[in-house]
Amino acid sequence: MAVSTLPGRVRSRFPIFERLVYINSCSQGALSDSVRSAYDAYLRDWDEQGAPWDYWVERTESARAAFSGLVNADRDEVAVTTSLSAGVASLASGLRYASRSKVVLSDLEFPTIGQIWHAQESRGARVVHVPAGPDGTVPVEHFDAAIDDDTLLVSITHVSYRTGAMLDVQAVVELAHERGALVLLDAYQTVGSMPLDVKELGVDFLGAGVLKYLLGSAGLAFFYCRRELFEKARPTATGWFADEDIFAMDIHDYSPSPTARRFQSGTPPVPSIYAGIAGIELMQEIGIAATREHVLELNDRLIAGVDELGGTVATPREREQHGALICIRSTDVTGLVAALAARGIVTSERDGSLRVSAHAYNTEEDIDAVLEALRRNRELLA
Ligand SMILES: Cc1ncc(COP(=O)(O)O)c(C=O)c1O
Repeated sequence: MAVSTLPGRVRSRFPIFERLVYINSCSQGALSDSVRSAYDAYLRDWDEQGAPWDYWVERTESARAAFSGLVNADRDEVAVTTSLSAGVASLASGLRYASRSKVVLSDLEFPTIGQIWHAQESRGARVVHVPAGPDGTVPVEHFDAAIDDDTLLVSITHVSYRTGAMLDVQAVVELAHERGALVLLDAYQTVGSMPLDVKELGVDFLGAGVLKYLLGSAGLAFFYCRRELFEKARPTATGWFADEDIFAMDIHDYSPSPTARRFQSGTPPVPSIYAGIAGIELMQEIGIAATREHVLELNDRLIAGVDELGGTVATPREREQHGALICIRSTDVTGLVAALAARGIVTSERDGSLRVSAHAYNTEEDIDAVLEALRRNRELLA
């Protein structure tokens, strides 16, 4: 493989490609040599130093710094969490639903988002769903009809894990802010796959994790809160690492941190932090903007190939309307994922669609291998 290409430079750092065509980063990124070494380092530090708490706290601060750099936030605007759900649930627990009660969310949200907001119905929230159109996107006009003066918050997903459609976040933010509503963005399917800037997007809150395009592992995520909104929520889902003074060890009151750290909870996920920092650093070394360009090229090739086979791409085909994930309709998607797996190609399924999600390490040959497998299983394409 030519070292002048992006995968030519990076693929050898991901041993899985010696055995498989791994094209499933929407579920989890491939394991790299540096993330494996980070786990070794965690065990070595534990073994050599016992409980190096100061170092672990410092690692948590490094994770916070890495996240803030990724999305152009300030460090104190970022909480280090154990999942996207944990950050969002902390926010939801601390909002008041009295003066404005409505939470508007798109029908393309990840389950956790719907579940967290519906759980707030017992505290007075009124949850309204915005339907997707027939093309798998949620038109901005649908948000326009749902957001009103009673809307507290609009909860949206950047790229849908179900359809691969990318939302026009700025248009939704404009509508929401015009009407005094806040915006939470689930950026799990975009972080690491394309450059993100919270200031440019204009969102008030953003959640994401390191498991997918940031090449980390389960257990580490982060939550951004715009500085002006630190006091907006007083989380009741909380813990000592959310306290103003973590090591005060005070059991007599609740004084949340004055910063976004108030959205944290208990002991930070130390092993996942070692791995997550290594994953983020590797993605930065590889180049997130270059990865976006590379994957768009691969996706053009994939979409053209599926068209030629007479298949149906469920994801909007325009470059500005999709992320890394491309969904392909199937009559028996479980059978199709298994047929690809039998040829050594790792993909996944949701909603009757095959999910193919390329990253920096994938090549044109990987796309051609997927297309060849689809050709051989054409009867499974819808
Ligand atoms: C869009 C989206 N949101 C959230 C999640 C998961 O979030 P959590 O870290 O809470 O498990 C995923 C992962 O599968 C996802 O694709």
